[in-house]
Amino acid sequence: MKSFFNEIIYLKTIGSTNTYLKENNHEDRTIVYTFDQTEGRGRTNKKWSNFKDKNIAISILLRSKNRILNDIWYIAVCSIALTELLEGLKIKDIRIKWPNDIYINDEKIAGILTESVWRSDKFEKTVIGIGVNVNADLNDLKTLDNKATSIFIQTQNNYELNAFFKDYLDHLSKWFSILFDEKKIYVIKNEWTKRCKIIGQKVKFNKDNEICFGLVDNIGQNGELEIKVGQNIINVLSGDVELV
Ligand code: BTN
Repeated sequence: MKSFFNEIIYLKTIGSTNTYLKENNHEDRTIVYTFDQTEGRGRTNKKWSNFKDKNIAISILLRSKNRILNDIWYIAVCSIALTELLEGLKIKDIRIKWPNDIYINDEKIAGILTESVWRSDKFEKTVIGIGVNVNADLNDLKTLDNKATSIFIQTQNNYELNAFFKDYLDHLSKWFSILFDEKKIYVIKNEWTKRCKIIGQKVKFNKDNEICFGLVDNIGQNGELEIKVGQNIINVLSGDVELV
């Protein structure tokens, strides 16, 4: 199978793979990875810990000519690719927490951060960063603020990091090709909807600084969550949506 990616770069150590791709000039469809990310960033200015040589940090660069879609579909693709890999390892209770995180039960195993670069009002590129807890153990993860797990904890097996990258790359390549080359957004939407396990669930969310409760009805054409509040459907495109 032809790879979706044009350039694959391994960095021995780096502050942040996202920052690296934002600040350096690489071609469209470049993917970088490291096992030693020293200043990883999460969403809402949080820190993302890598635990040197235990976990992996990956970033993907997509340039303007590919900007046919809402960024949320890139997040969907990275999540579907990872959950497919985790299913192959027979890990149970995998759930994509719409839109950015992957959980096993109520413990986070991976997070995604997308960032866009604009130059003089002109869109230049999107960078999608994925941090996956691969071999971190309980001692590592208990230092974090929130509950987290890893592939090692779930399977009791160490997953050699280069092997993990190679396997994940195959899944990413497959799903990005479905999105960009085959242009089958509906396939992505269906797979994502199935794996989010959020349809029909009661949720709490923030809309215009007000806390609301509702029932998730669907994922819409733009990747937004359609939440039923009374007789109305409210569209939520980003922000924190919590199961209650
Ligand atoms: C989150 O859960 O808040 C998102 C975490 C995103 C972490 C990844 S690791 C690769 C890329 N580089 C970064 O600095 N952050 C992202």
